[in-house]
Amino acid sequence: MSNPATPPAVGVLDERPPLTFPPGFLWGAATAAYQIEGAANEGGRTASIWDTFSHTEGRTVAGHTGDVACDHYHRLSDDVRLMAELGLKSYRFSVSWPRVQPGGSGPANAEGLDFYQRLVDELLANGIEPWLTLYHWDLPQELEDAGGWPARDTAARFADYSLLVADALGDRVKYWTTLNEPWCSAFLGYGSGVHAPGRSDGADAVRAGHHLMLGHGLAVQALRTAVPQAQLGVTVNLYPVTPASDSPGDVDAARRIDALANRFFLDPILRGAYPDDLVADLAKVTDFGHVHDGDLATISTPLDVVGVNYYSRHVVAAPVSGEQPEPYWRAQSCWPGSEDVRFVTRGVPVTDMDWEIDAPGLVETLRRVHEEYTDLPLYVTENGSAFVDEVVDGRVDDVDRLAYFDAHLRASHEAISAGVPLRGYFAWSLLDNFEWAWGYTKRFGMIYVDYDKQTRIPKSSARWYAEVIRRNGLAAQ
Ligand code: FCB
Repeated sequence: MSNPATPPAVGVLDERPPLTFPPGFLWGAATAAYQIEGAANEGGRTASIWDTFSHTEGRTVAGHTGDVACDHYHRLSDDVRLMAELGLKSYRFSVSWPRVQPGGSGPANAEGLDFYQRLVDELLANGIEPWLTLYHWDLPQELEDAGGWPARDTAARFADYSLLVADALGDRVKYWTTLNEPWCSAFLGYGSGVHAPGRSDGADAVRAGHHLMLGHGLAVQALRTAVPQAQLGVTVNLYPVTPASDSPGDVDAARRIDALANRFFLDPILRGAYPDDLVADLAKVTDFGHVHDGDLATISTPLDVVGVNYYSRHVVAAPVSGEQPEPYWRAQSCWPGSEDVRFVTRGVPVTDMDWEIDAPGLVETLRRVHEEYTDLPLYVTENGSAFVDEVVDGRVDDVDRLAYFDAHLRASHEAISAGVPLRGYFAWSLLDNFEWAWGYTKRFGMIYVDYDKQTRIPKSSARWYAEVIRRNGLAAQ
């Protein structure tokens, strides 16, 4: 983008009085290592579960892999320049575990760490606060071969790895997120199998979820000592779960899905206990024998911030006897013990992922975390939408994506007005990228990526977001 101060492509901002965010609000954009870096076999990096999964026939759309992705590994400086032109105050990226610690054990790989040191240095030189996520789903394959997240030892391995990163970057990185979306790692990776490593076993998914949180807690304890000045947190993906009607069956279906999707993680991390109703719902799946004395105290080690990723709402209904629901986005069920709950579509506008657009759900979600769980500062660490983009005369006018951001930023502002200590917002995503099982067929970026030529085109939403950042706000409704 040559001139970030260029007025936005759409006129909305100028027709309405401004809606201002609190001073210092952290405006950011997010990515993840496997989705953008490429250079899968360079610099000493070994395979992660996503390399293995994407190279297995039938696992990703059209067999797409992250081998090259956005080639960000080789285009780091150009991409940081684009961020600076957008005026980003912060950039949320993830560190690739097998790049930094090949094979998931032993000493750090200096060449891998060097990449992130250069990234952090360039961000800081451009006045952009680095926001580092330690785990965005790329478990070293060797650790999966040893049992993966269902195995307890993986939690300890994660804490060791976190210290290697802390040693290299602790002096320059203030914001540290342990895990991105442990629900997806556990329930899509080991439950439905639509994500790496592609296993389908409800008990394994529950164990994975526990060990992810244990790894989180151990890493927080390690980082607290290694980087005392750091702001430590975790990012969870949350959904409001609404019953399709107020019938007792629908209400109970919503309770069950809320327990698995939200409270499975929020309660142990922020309250130090699994919810009783969740344990009862899962009784046929697991006896929770994998939970050892002291685990929940570790998992609930105090944090400094909480990250919330928000995309949509779940609307659910009671099972219909004899019917196995098969919603469009799951293979095996990712809801162990509640497989027969029906997911209802309401006929409201959806994104290219078929996810319903529901900005009020963001207000509900943020208020819930604050009002029911914690006074800690909250950050929206991901929010965004996939739409089909078209390049016309070298421009991408992504009005739908822009409207999605606009609506969700208004929701963020509403949450702040309602008393939520929301301190920042990260758009997902900076760049179009490898959208996991969907490969390159879904575009979430504010910046368009031509994967053949590896060129970038800031879309209308990027120009608009630059203006939002410059004004520290939006037009009022
Ligand atoms: C989230 C993931 C992120 C991206 C978005 C669309 O679940 O954290 O990597 O895939 O969804």
